[in-house]
Amino acid sequence: MTIIDIINKKRLKKELTREEITFAVNGYVNGDIKDYQMSSLLMAIVLNGMTDRETIDLTDIMINSGDVLDLSKIDGIIVDKHSTGGVGDKETLVLGPLLASLGIKIAKMSGRGLGHTGGTIDKLESIKGFNTKLSEEEFIDQVNKINIALVSQTSNLVPADKKIYALRDVTGTVESIPLIASSIMSKKIASGADIIMIDVKVGNGALMKNLDDARLLAKLMVKIGASYRKPTICLLTNMEEPLGYAIGNALEVKEAIDTLKGSGPSDLLEVVMTLSSIIIGAVKKIPNNEAKNLLFKQINNGEAYKKFEELVEAQGGDINDIKVSDKVFSIKSDKSGYINKIDALRLGEIAKQIGAGRNTLDDEIDYEVGLVLNKKVGDKVEKDEELVKVYLKNKDVSISDILSCFKIDDELKVMTKLILDIIK
Ligand code: URA
Repeated sequence: MTIIDIINKKRLKKELTREEITFAVNGYVNGDIKDYQMSSLLMAIVLNGMTDRETIDLTDIMINSGDVLDLSKIDGIIVDKHSTGGVGDKETLVLGPLLASLGIKIAKMSGRGLGHTGGTIDKLESIKGFNTKLSEEEFIDQVNKINIALVSQTSNLVPADKKIYALRDVTGTVESIPLIASSIMSKKIASGADIIMIDVKVGNGALMKNLDDARLLAKLMVKIGASYRKPTICLLTNMEEPLGYAIGNALEVKEAIDTLKGSGPSDLLEVVMTLSSIIIGAVKKIPNNEAKNLLFKQINNGEAYKKFEELVEAQGGDINDIKVSDKVFSIKSDKSGYINKIDALRLGEIAKQIGAGRNTLDDEIDYEVGLVLNKKVGDKVEKDEELVKVYLKNKDVSISDILSCFKIDDELKVMTKLILDIIK
């Protein structure tokens, strides 16, 4: 067997055997197969797809390329929640403590941001002192003690994905449903949770640009989860505009805190409540409205925020030291009308340019910068009314670039829904 035979087979749209996929993945991880050969195979997969059987085999081979976490020392049902990535997505910071305050075990390994989307680990590190690197033992102990730990992925969890994902990122081979499904599910299954909840973002600011593709991805991930007897639930949510108002690390943590205290943005609250009530319903076997009542109670009685404080303290952070830049200026609307679109992708890129994200994994992030919207899709705006507040440090921003992200018309167009589908 040679890698060239395997590339040619996929180029001719044929189904690869498990042995062939193993040869390619393991050969790439150990260096026998070169970047240019793997990128050629990946491009053949992007163009010609994979059968479900090939995707399940690929997922399994990637899981077995590294450690699989054994969380059996944690008592109770362990939930992992993942988002396929969006702009202003701070869901985990709200949902984690909220569910943990009801006794659900949240043992979660999160990622950093790359591209125009942010990552939970960078957001947490904007809290002074917050340690995202716990040992496996510390991680398990903390979940047993306070029901929640949020840490960065250990280096030997699915090393095959780490290497292949980095290559995909620079070879135009990210956007493939089987490759995305196997990449996400290999990490979720290796992380050891009992129930996997995935928020598949759909729209301009997301990896999945349309609902049909998002449904295919969700169905495939549910099928992969089922083959490991891990119940997997996918919620499809709209990412045509940023989630909430804040984009940027410390600014997003502050918005998450407001939400935990009951005064957050309604779209963020709706997604968090929908995701959390599905999880509570599945774990406690109660109907959705009862689950939602329980969750609102935890916000109103302060328990959800208290759990966030406990989490920050347990991981060494100082909740009173979350700095945002004091160099703030306001961008005002150049006309009156209704906001029919806010370009999430472009705003995510602008936030990255001013320092809230990285261009390469080695770039330093500026936790204090970002954007806070003053308006959302559907709102009315007057000429000279504020659209966005910009928090800057060392870099500048173009006002016309930001204004071009807002589509303002005389009439309000039909509004799209926030929650698009549930697939389980
Ligand atoms: N997130 C992942 O972890 N992998 C992908 O391929 C895409 C998004």
